[in-house]
Amino acid sequence: MLLARSRGARDNKAMQRKCEKTLIEVTLKVNGKSQQLKVEDRALLADTLRDTLDLTGTHIGCDTSQCGCCTVLLDNAAVKSCTMLTAQADGCSVTTIEGLASNGELHPVQKAFSECHALQCGFCTPGMIMATVDLLKNQKSPDARAIQHGLEGNLCRCTGYINIERAVQRAAELCAATNDSDS
Ligand code: FES
Ligand code: FES
Repeated sequence: MLLARSRGARDNKAMQRKCEKTLIEVTLKVNGKSQQLKVEDRALLADTLRDTLDLTGTHIGCDTSQCGCCTVLLDNAAVKSCTMLTAQADGCSVTTIEGLASNGELHPVQKAFSECHALQCGFCTPGMIMATVDLLKNQKSPDARAIQHGLEGNLCRCTGYINIERAVQRAAELCAATNDSDS
């Protein structure tokens, strides 16, 4: 009886330890703004963006790295923020869909998605757009095959992919035009 009781107390302590939160400090530059945050060591980047910073444009569709809805740019490269710890992003720069427009002007990729009707419910759209920004950084004028390859980690349940493909091609044109007028 005594033995069972002390084993019970040990189990309770172990359970308590399991439930205790370990907070860590991280510094992120999010959409150009430096953020010093205290987050749980196990906090996912997607959750920190949504729940701590209220940047709910980053969507969570699967939580298992399959749908791409949570795609953001980390130091300018696309990552799925549902499969990354916030701690791993410490010291990095993060761009979310909220950070793309500048001075009230949509980013060319956002414009192209709107122009080409590349969305229906819009749930996948922030991730598609962020993945497209990454794709166009590396390939200025991707053909259909390159677009399919570049966006293969992003799933859309409603549009089919034809308009998304058109939007990426249109975005490439708009980005080229923007670059020309900048130079
Ligand atoms: S929520 Fe991250 S890949 Fe689906
Ligand atoms: S627009 Fe609905 S999931 Fe893509």
